[in-house]
Amino acid sequence: MSFERKNIANMQGYVPGEQPKAHTVIKLNTNENPYPASPAVADALAKIRVEDLRRYPQAIAEDFRQIAADVHGVDAENIIPTNGGDELLRLALTTFVEVGDKIIVTQPTYSLYPVLAEVQNCILEEIPLRDDWSIPADFAESLIQSRAKMCILVNPHAPTGCLLPSAYIEKLAKSFEGVLVIDEAYVDFVDPKESYNCVPLIDSHENILILRTLSKGYALAGLRFGYGISNKSLANPIMFKTRDSYNTDHVSQILACAALQAQDHAQANWEKIRNSRSDLITALNELGLVTGASQTNFVLVQVPANHSAINISQALKDQNILVRHFRQPRLEDKLRISIGTEKENRALLSALRGVLQG
Ligand SMILES: Cc1ncc(COP(=O)(O)O)c(C=O)c1O
Repeated sequence: MSFERKNIANMQGYVPGEQPKAHTVIKLNTNENPYPASPAVADALAKIRVEDLRRYPQAIAEDFRQIAADVHGVDAENIIPTNGGDELLRLALTTFVEVGDKIIVTQPTYSLYPVLAEVQNCILEEIPLRDDWSIPADFAESLIQSRAKMCILVNPHAPTGCLLPSAYIEKLAKSFEGVLVIDEAYVDFVDPKESYNCVPLIDSHENILILRTLSKGYALAGLRFGYGISNKSLANPIMFKTRDSYNTDHVSQILACAALQAQDHAQANWEKIRNSRSDLITALNELGLVTGASQTNFVLVQVPANHSAINISQALKDQNILVRHFRQPRLEDKLRISIGTEKENRALLSALRGVLQG
């Protein structure tokens, strides 16, 4: 006998990338930052006293809200601190999408969205990206026609690394009547010359909810801290109705504050990763592994027709290098590879050279 709700009994859960225990593995499979967080985070951690944990944390993480507001030039009321960006996604669905309502995503996209749609028991409509991974010309029109309650776009896109300009997002937000979630998990790695900043749009567009995370850009995936940025009409129901009573803990609040305040460290890290990305793309292309122009900390690689992506990923794994292969339509013949340290990238290239020639 099953006690699960029908939709839960019928669904598959999210499958995370492999997290090996050994630290000797070159881990390029889950888009973690290859460098440690700022030394300011280590200092803040060292100062936390066990006795501070006797008490509950700040319920709405007001210190973090203010620091994030200052970083983004918005008000503290526009910031929604969450237990990782994933919690913000779950809260967005719980708060704004009824059972049976429709949500729209692109295909492909972040593989957690369909899982959350199943949990909420809502209808998921997937709009395929074009062959070059660009968004279809009639996407805005499809959104209007769909009468969907929510559209979730990851920008820059995962798993392709493509970027939509903020002017396009603004156009979508204007014409769409539902909530437009812009998942900016990888936005820190975008070339600053690009016009990508959607934060100023929250003033004039009540339906935009931006997701940020400390997992990637701030090298704190193990901490579980993310946040939303939105107009109060979206932020308040999450902050004061649907959020768990203490959804972010004391330790993570303190460390998240330290990380966000260390902007110089973070920005130098992003610059280093952008430079490595550009070198890695050139070297992969020289090996006949085609990649698009990525604005994230990973690249999606097309393997040559005479090779199999899954075999290459297994051959790399045999050499202690993990990359991500998705058994999914349109991604079967590709590998998603996170940008590592320069040493890790050199080891990857050398292993790939051997595998492709072998
Ligand atoms: C596209 C995308 N959005 C959101 C997240 C959530 O990140 P976290 O829950 O670690 O903040 C991830 C993590 O991999 C992601 O790839």
